[in-house]
Amino acid sequence: MIHAHVSSWAIALILFFVTYFLLKAGKAKGHKITSMILRLFYVLIILTGGMVFINIVTAGAFQFMYLVKVLVGIWVIGGMEMVLAKTKKGESAKGMWIMFIISLVLVLYLGYDVL
Ligand code: HEM
Repeated sequence: MIHAHVSSWAIALILFFVTYFLLKAGKAKGHKITSMILRLFYVLIILTGGMVFINIVTAGAFQFMYLVKVLVGIWVIGGMEMVLAKTKKGESAKGMWIMFIISLVLVLYLGYDVL
């Protein structure tokens, strides 16, 4: 399940950048399709991550940091959505980019180093 989780967020990250550049290039139809697929991958990330989390809990291996990891994971998804929403409105997405990058670095650190 962890492989499905890693594949889901890796594909989501690629789709996020593709959607961002399509938006920037003014390709309305293209970005609509990729952002819909991106949202499907959000669901996959949450489902696979949720299943990994349930496995950890039922195995009796729960640690507080796993919960933090889950919350930061959801925050990354929120970050991607907010960057895209601001960009779509034509507003500056600088603050959202900073938030997204911080949450992404944090989630990778929590996923690979701390846990
Ligand atoms: C884009 C968002 C996310 C990213 C980039 C991400 C990244 C990661 C990474 C790098 C790992 C470690 C993989 C490994 O050990 O091989 C991981 C594990 C995990 N993720 Fe996510 N994740 C995200 C979202 C989520 C969400 C939304 C949830 C929960 C609903 C979640 C739950 C988990 C759990 C429970 C683990 C296992 C922790 C461990 O054993 O290290 N993740 N994730």
